[in-house]
Amino acid sequence: MTTHPALERAGVAAPGTPPVTPPAPPRSRPLAGPLELLLLGRGSDPDSERGVDCPGALPPASDPTLVERARTARAALGDSVFVLGHHYQRDEVIAFADVTGDSFKLAQQAAARPEAGHIVFCGVHFMAESADILTGDHQQVILPDLAAGCSMADMATAEQVEQAWETLADAGLAEGTVPVSYMNSSAAIKAFTGRHGGTICTSSNARRALEWAFGPARRGERVLFLPDQHLGRNTAVLEMGMSLDDCVVYNPHRPGGGLTREQLRDARMILWQGHCSVHGRFSLGCVDEVRARIPGITVLVHPECRHEVVTAADLVGSTEYIIKAVDEAPPGSRFAVGTELNLVQRLANRHPDKTVVFLDRTVCYCSTMNRIDLPHLVWALESLVRGETVNRITVDPDVAAYARKALDQMLALP
Ligand code: 13P
Ligand code: SF4
Repeated sequence: MTTHPALERAGVAAPGTPPVTPPAPPRSRPLAGPLELLLLGRGSDPDSERGVDCPGALPPASDPTLVERARTARAALGDSVFVLGHHYQRDEVIAFADVTGDSFKLAQQAAARPEAGHIVFCGVHFMAESADILTGDHQQVILPDLAAGCSMADMATAEQVEQAWETLADAGLAEGTVPVSYMNSSAAIKAFTGRHGGTICTSSNARRALEWAFGPARRGERVLFLPDQHLGRNTAVLEMGMSLDDCVVYNPHRPGGGLTREQLRDARMILWQGHCSVHGRFSLGCVDEVRARIPGITVLVHPECRHEVVTAADLVGSTEYIIKAVDEAPPGSRFAVGTELNLVQRLANRHPDKTVVFLDRTVCYCSTMNRIDLPHLVWALESLVRGETVNRITVDPDVAAYARKALDQMLALP
């Protein structure tokens, strides 16, 4: 497979292509190294989004009374508990969610429930952190399995991002640069964003976030977009009218991000070299294959997909957009959907009068979203019934204050 020349110039190599390193400015301190490999659910690393131990006395997955136990515990807890479920969660978990949504809607919902003493977040770690930041001191946020992290969020550590900012400052470019960070990032990255006058965004408001950053409110010369290069590039090029040449990719594993001062200065979008391991799997080949197999099919993808996939698709949008597009289509419509499989399967089941297929031929669940299952949910709820809070997610107050600034800026976007 070859890469489009403009994408190549923007730093996106075809799989298997050895990367080209341009000359880089000298650096005074060593690069933050890549994260050590941790087996999912084993070992611990509180500074990252990665899998950590979840040492609970979980009920066995084979227990035939799990659904009943979840119902009983849920009923006993009443309004004191609010259960949030991201659309990528398993059906067995979604069945117990008081509200389902994408990451933007769930952040709003968490902030709007001051009466609930406990928020049980069926999603991943960065979402639970955001909920803790947005809720009051009297509320506690629970993540039923601490191993539910996000590989994309792990691709930008606070240390690496501080180094990148130092590189921009050394080049005299930090002042004109506005950080815009995807919700899929650690609380520490959100705090960095707030400290430097930036905003958080999600896939449903990324365009508004960029308009804000470049518009009269901030008058940014360029944006440092963290950590999903694809959402940043797709929004800049397809929604903001920028060209691929306006984008450069900052590689945190190379001195100076692998970019020259001139490249950083001339860029309008400095895209962090991160991606989603689920959406990054879809390829142009998948699109061609499904179009050949199912004539007249509408290809509908999430903007975390690679640029060539999004460009080849018919419709692009956030998780909520994808759901609306399928829900509102007339009977007989045909969709190939490029997003997480739990959601695609749910849409297919909900619409037997429509054709809904997964864009890739191979199974592609988000392994960390799938960590939350019925045994973990039952364990979390039954523990609350006993007056015990397990797997509480807390964010350091200093980090939370700046992260909140960036989250509030997102919630206030026009
Ligand atoms: P949204 O919920 O914003 O669509 O993001 C998708 C995702 O990958 C969440 O982890
Ligand atoms: Fe992270 Fe991608 Fe999974 Fe979302 S789908 S939690 S971005 S790995």
